[in-house]
Amino acid sequence: MKLTKDQQDLLDGKYGEGAKLAMKVQVAIGESFGAERMVPITRAHVALSNQDADLWLAEKMVNLGAHCRVSPTVNPGWGIPYFKKMNIGDKEDYEMMQRTHEAYKKLGATLSYNCTPYIDTNVPNFGEIIAFSESSATPYANSVWGARSNREGANSALFAAITGYVPEYGLLLDENRKGTILVEVKADMDNDYDYHMLGMCGKKIGHGIPVFVGLPEHISKEALRNLGAQLNTSGAYDMYHIVGFTPEAQTLEMAFGGKEPERKVTITNEDFEEVLKDISLEGEREIDFAMFGCPHFTLDEVRHISERINGRKLEKEMWILVSSHVKHLCDIMGYSEIMEKLGAHIVPSTCPDQPIWKFLKGKVGVTESPKCAYYPKRRGIDFVIRDLDTCIDAALTGRVK
Ligand code: F3S
Repeated sequence: MKLTKDQQDLLDGKYGEGAKLAMKVQVAIGESFGAERMVPITRAHVALSNQDADLWLAEKMVNLGAHCRVSPTVNPGWGIPYFKKMNIGDKEDYEMMQRTHEAYKKLGATLSYNCTPYIDTNVPNFGEIIAFSESSATPYANSVWGARSNREGANSALFAAITGYVPEYGLLLDENRKGTILVEVKADMDNDYDYHMLGMCGKKIGHGIPVFVGLPEHISKEALRNLGAQLNTSGAYDMYHIVGFTPEAQTLEMAFGGKEPERKVTITNEDFEEVLKDISLEGEREIDFAMFGCPHFTLDEVRHISERINGRKLEKEMWILVSSHVKHLCDIMGYSEIMEKLGAHIVPSTCPDQPIWKFLKGKVGVTESPKCAYYPKRRGIDFVIRDLDTCIDAALTGRVK
């Protein structure tokens, strides 16, 4: 691979051992994908996980003196101030999250603790070359904004933030951004929840870049967020196109680059029913709690929940996960206080896949997000998956239909 003087200096250790290691790994990744050069990035997002391997790498890079040239936004762990106030969690939980916080702070990250940076805290422009990790973030940045990112891992995104470069391969190149699978959607797409279900059809859609046709003319940011998150729960997708809607797919011809699709797939209501059977506990039962915000909910979604609750006391607790940015707006607008009194907690900077939720072990929740149901399963927390309004009603009555 040809390196510029700055890139060679990084590799030679002129900027310290941390930057040297980051560059060494990136060059190796680039060579394994046949990249000919490294190109500068303007943004990064690191899918921090606050788990052992993540903390090990972050602390190792701190000890090697690394510092980010491009300050990356980071994924949620769990929000220490909020859980401290609620008196939840033990010493071990706090130590781990505090160490993660300190390590990323020393590395120069922007401590956003949010997994939807593409909506409010780290929004790229069309054509920008970026290094985004996180399942819903990469497809949103590529597909909706037309930015260019490979599906980075948390570690490769961190290395990119440290060096300021990425190897040029994959989705950074025009020829790899064309669609390969035509996905005709015949299922009813009435609300944002249906995009969770569409994303969960990854097994049927198969490997490649899907090109969706048959979707409504207007698609909300929340629906697009859900689609990307679940495509990467049921499969592995860096990018998709929606004909007539996403910027690189104004026509079918543009989406496929003038070529024929390699495969054609039709998605129907029956596919959604099959998926739901597979991933959700059976309904018509008592529930213990409701959880939303995986990926993080927007202010509009909090407003919707508040309006549907309409001042009634919840029978079961509700946890709504949001970014600190949305939480701040909820505080200013009075949602946090009103909803807390009714039994709905608006929780900032937190992911359901964190040990802090162990107090829910053995309980059954409702959620509208398959991803929210998927990860906590390994911690002994199970979910019924339903559309958002059905879940809100379940928290009001204590039973899901
Ligand atoms: Fe976000 Fe964690 Fe869900 S990172 S998408 S809240 S699993």
